[in-house]
Amino acid sequence: MLSIAEVSTKAYVGSKVAIRGWVYRIRSSGGVTFVVVRDSSGIIQCTARKNELQPDVYDSIASLGIESSVEFHGTLKEDKRSPSGYELAVDSCRIYQKNDVFPITKDQGEEFLLDNRHLWLRSREFTSILKVRSTIFRSFADFFYENGYYQVQTPFMVSTAVEGGSTLFKVDFFGEPIFLNQSAQFYLETMIYSLEKVFTIAPSFRAEKSRTRRHLTEYWHAEAEVAWIDNNEMMDIEERMIYYILSRVIEDNEDDLKMLGRDPDLLRGMKPPYPRIRYSEIIKVANSIGLALKYGDDLGADEERQITMKYDRPIFVTNYPKELKPFYMPVDPENPSEVLNHDMLAPEGYGEIIGGSQRIWNYDEMMQRIREANLDEKAYYWYIDLRKYGSIPHSGFGLGLDRLAMWIMHLDNIREAIPYPRTIRRTRP
Ligand code: 4AD
Ligand code: MG
Repeated sequence: MLSIAEVSTKAYVGSKVAIRGWVYRIRSSGGVTFVVVRDSSGIIQCTARKNELQPDVYDSIASLGIESSVEFHGTLKEDKRSPSGYELAVDSCRIYQKNDVFPITKDQGEEFLLDNRHLWLRSREFTSILKVRSTIFRSFADFFYENGYYQVQTPFMVSTAVEGGSTLFKVDFFGEPIFLNQSAQFYLETMIYSLEKVFTIAPSFRAEKSRTRRHLTEYWHAEAEVAWIDNNEMMDIEERMIYYILSRVIEDNEDDLKMLGRDPDLLRGMKPPYPRIRYSEIIKVANSIGLALKYGDDLGADEERQITMKYDRPIFVTNYPKELKPFYMPVDPENPSEVLNHDMLAPEGYGEIIGGSQRIWNYDEMMQRIREANLDEKAYYWYIDLRKYGSIPHSGFGLGLDRLAMWIMHLDNIREAIPYPRTIRRTRP
């Protein structure tokens, strides 16, 4: 059977067609029932006339509730007044399941919609969000495949922290305390010695008690690790990757963006190169717009929101003070209090979407930083080994795909960018 979008073309006007899907809207007046049916591809108005159908058939159509599952057969007509410009004049139907009242009606509160996310996913808005998300995940992988990378998989149950102990979820593993992975980075680093260029897409877990509009406790993390390149070359790749994803979304999901009220042209205009601004400069920018930040302060969601309102495309913030960043980032030889790192901040108030850096590859430097960070050398033996046997310069990054999706679709809260958000207060449905 054809989809609603496939049927809704001039070529089928006057022909007998069939569509199936769910009742999106229904109203009757003067012996005619208008049923707008949706499927994954779109909507179409189906018109049932009392004087053309058996009374019991007409009555069963007229009494359908929202989200009933149906199949309609009839003739396709052009009709300027119907939502898609096409209409199906019904001559027979099959009802898979008839509903009375669908729990989700207009003007429901946010908590109610979150409790009923399994049903709310059917909304036209969420259908578009899911489609855009699908393009984002696919095009991230395509970009790296097209550039000679290998996709790899790393464990979710781990015994070492990547991004510091404060955001680790502890899990009981047959009586042993272990953690849920915060980042695949260290495992990706182990694989560049065989593959040189690797990426992965996997959930990361953060026990962050932050109740901001951009924090999840479980999020989708797209990470890459690349042999032989430095911090600047890593940024070159990332800006091309981001614009590649934007272009694919604009191309494949123009209607979805419009449905969500997002102007595709605005995204199209966000061409690289993206400004690369040192942390010390960003502090000055922050102060010039009235934020009272001093050198050494971290940028939180609120600061990044105000700073990135000033920019019309993503920016990189580089060279953070060493104290603000994890132990694996090398110091800048020209300024040893700062590290060779970069965060990519999305514009329009969205803030950090990527965290990346060059990695320490010198054994002595690594050991010194592990000690400074008070980490257990034994636990990191495998990470340290990489600096003992054929060590090479390399860089990598992690991109929060839910944050990227949130920005691309201009959503208010990260919970709207993922089908089943996990936050400090929610693990259901
Ligand atoms: O900046 P982060 O913590 O960097 C890392 O984990 C590195 N080890 C990645 C790497 O170099 N391979 O996290 C990377 C990105 C952030 O920029 C953000 O987009 C996303 O992951 N992220 C979150 N997204 C949603 N909810 C959270 N709680 C997030 N924490 C980080
Ligand atoms: Mg970060």
